[in-house]
Amino acid sequence: MSRRPIIAGNWKMHNNREESKKLVCAIKDSISTIDKDALPEVVVAPVFTSLDVVSESICNCGCERIKLAAQNCFYEPKGAFTGEISIDMIKDFNAKFIIIGHSERRQIFGESDEMINKKALAIIESGLTPIICCGETLEQRELGVTDSHIASQIVKALDGVKPDDVANVVIAYEPIWAIGTGKTCDSVEANRVIKGIRSTLAQIAGNENAQKVRILYGGSVKPETIKEQMAQSDIDGALVGGASLKADSFVEIIKGAM
Ligand code: PGA
Repeated sequence: MSRRPIIAGNWKMHNNREESKKLVCAIKDSISTIDKDALPEVVVAPVFTSLDVVSESICNCGCERIKLAAQNCFYEPKGAFTGEISIDMIKDFNAKFIIIGHSERRQIFGESDEMINKKALAIIESGLTPIICCGETLEQRELGVTDSHIASQIVKALDGVKPDDVANVVIAYEPIWAIGTGKTCDSVEANRVIKGIRSTLAQIAGNENAQKVRILYGGSVKPETIKEQMAQSDIDGALVGGASLKADSFVEIIKGAM
């Protein structure tokens, strides 16, 4: 089963509009001469206030090479939800993906598995693709509950999703202790956990659908780590934070995934 790799840059709360535009244009310039069929699916996730400038920059410079993602959404279509943004509002900017369940959302903003499930269902219903994040804390890893914790996050996030739709979601395995710490999870170990995620997906949606799901690794991905990560059987790309904020390092990661 060949799965097209994804390299996604999660810009988190960085880059104003001007900086966002500069960054996406620099990425575009560096990959514009690469055969687009050879590229992984390249995704950038700016802050909400930069979605329009990044969307315009992408359209002006060839939509097929870079796709847009939002970092979060709310699941209701509209209403009295101060501070929230609906999926249809995100669709206005031609976004294709929405990241949900990032550990920062779970830990800092108290998002529950139930909320993440509602978001996943609403995103799928809207025709966009959720990038669903999961991952264990250092404490959970040391207690030996990593695999059961991740399986539970996946089962809860996908509750009620039709098996055929499961095939199209993207999962990002991001051990929390590896995010922003410079400590990358050993590639063989990341691949082992990701294989476990795939077998959980097979139980939920059947093996054929599970084989189609792209599962990314995230957590201190760097140009120096990507080749080894991509050489693993079940790692289908990367969700990149810090190293996606500089065009040079993000483009090196993209090239390393080819
Ligand atoms: P990092 O972030 O690459 O800076 O560790 C990854 C993420 O949080 O998605």
